[in-house]
Amino acid sequence: MGRLAVLILAAGKGTRMKSDRAKVLHPVGGLPMLEYVVRAARSVSHEVSVVVGYQAERVMASVGDVGFVRQARQLGTGHAVIAARRAIEGASEVLILPGDVPLVSAGVLGAFVDFYRGGEFAGAVLTATLEDPSGYGRIIRRSRHEIDRIVEDCDANAEIRQIREVNSAICAFDVARLLEALDKLGTENTQGEYYLTDVVGLLSEEGSRIGAFEAPDPTETLGINSRRELAAADRLLRRRKCDSLMNEGVSIMDPESAWIDTDVRIGPDSIIYPFVTIEGASVLASETTVRSFTRLTDTNVGRRSTILENCVIEQSEIHDNVQIGPSARMRPGCVLEDGVKIGNFVELKRSRLGKGTRAGHLSYLGDTETGRNVNVGAGTITCNYDGLRKHPTLIGDNVFIGSDSQLIAPVRIGKGAYVAAGSTITEDVPAHALAIGRARQTVKKGWAKKRAEKAGTKGRKD
Ligand code: UD1
Ligand code: CA
Repeated sequence: MGRLAVLILAAGKGTRMKSDRAKVLHPVGGLPMLEYVVRAARSVSHEVSVVVGYQAERVMASVGDVGFVRQARQLGTGHAVIAARRAIEGASEVLILPGDVPLVSAGVLGAFVDFYRGGEFAGAVLTATLEDPSGYGRIIRRSRHEIDRIVEDCDANAEIRQIREVNSAICAFDVARLLEALDKLGTENTQGEYYLTDVVGLLSEEGSRIGAFEAPDPTETLGINSRRELAAADRLLRRRKCDSLMNEGVSIMDPESAWIDTDVRIGPDSIIYPFVTIEGASVLASETTVRSFTRLTDTNVGRRSTILENCVIEQSEIHDNVQIGPSARMRPGCVLEDGVKIGNFVELKRSRLGKGTRAGHLSYLGDTETGRNVNVGAGTITCNYDGLRKHPTLIGDNVFIGSDSQLIAPVRIGKGAYVAAGSTITEDVPAHALAIGRARQTVKKGWAKKRAEKAGTKGRKD
């Protein structure tokens, strides 16, 4: 067996997406579509190169651990391979993939490479039989395992358009034979481009054998050219993700509405309710519960923690046995230690709450660090911004903050201290003290009656 190089074609703009963003950067299942192709490619060879052109810098930044080749002008898929001549000429065989087939699996690529290697072919094409083949190049067969040529949809006559076997654009070639054929490639077609698909016709005209391997699951070869195809691929990937999580022991109550990104990990006996979104690199331990309409982004959740309805939580760490929500918001940089409880309409930003701390209702805690077992009363607000800078609030173990208090940062509340309800705290409170920072109440007896008499009315009813 010779050296197998992999080449991924990703230089095109993707005009049919109607987007400024290069097509291969559009996300499916939470990752750029190119990332899936690169991962599958790596399963068959360590020598992976990507042809870049449109938005080359952004495309290069989106994937790691591969080589890059520039195609300055995008004159067709054949031209893209010509641009990559130097990257592949050292190898004896090359597997070529388009950058827009995110559903392709390592399994089908492995089987395809084995088929190609086992058949003494000059090249081979991974094909698929589709219900609706429109838009794809059609396969003209020579025999059961061999292809005569490929005709692009826009160059096909009515008869050829009837053919439902299509070119997935995933193909493998003997490098020497491929390079010879590329030298003969022309642009006499509807699009005036150098088609890689014409290499098949050129080689078979010379009497070489080009193998055809039909993908057992045609959805794996779906190419993404439009927003509709993007949405369809996204749905398939998310369904795949839910299926694999369920196989690992996660309960997903409604896999059609659970929106879980490809790289998310969830431990067994967790329960995901309908309409939950879990994004990015989030990791949920076992026995977690996430209820409907909650979004978690790049967040870790510990064992037996529960997140109730309607929460938005980003880039945060939630430890074990924590309860959050409903309707809570955690902005980036929060840490909730074991047993913390966050109730409704509580917003946290860059804050760390120590073990067993509770903020049950209607609070804002920003740039705050609390010790253990702190009680944050309803309506407590840390005033962390003075109009110019952000300041920290430090609250010690076992502190009790009465409801409707404002803590004007920077400020420290010593351990075991009490803050009386309705206080505005502007100075540090020593440990174990009581701080009251509010106007003293005065009561004027009989005031209402006297007022009514003065005005000559009967006054308000008792
Ligand atoms: C291609 C195939 C078609 C096949 C279909 C499967 C050709 C001529 N046609 O058509 O037979 O059925 O894929 O999905 O190959 N690219 C470059 N440089 C270029 C042009 C394209 O790198 O100059 C890249 C694109 O970024 C893309 C890939 O090649 O990732 C395929 O190009 P695309 O325009 O999507 O080809 P299709 O029209 O879908
Ligand atoms: Ca395509």
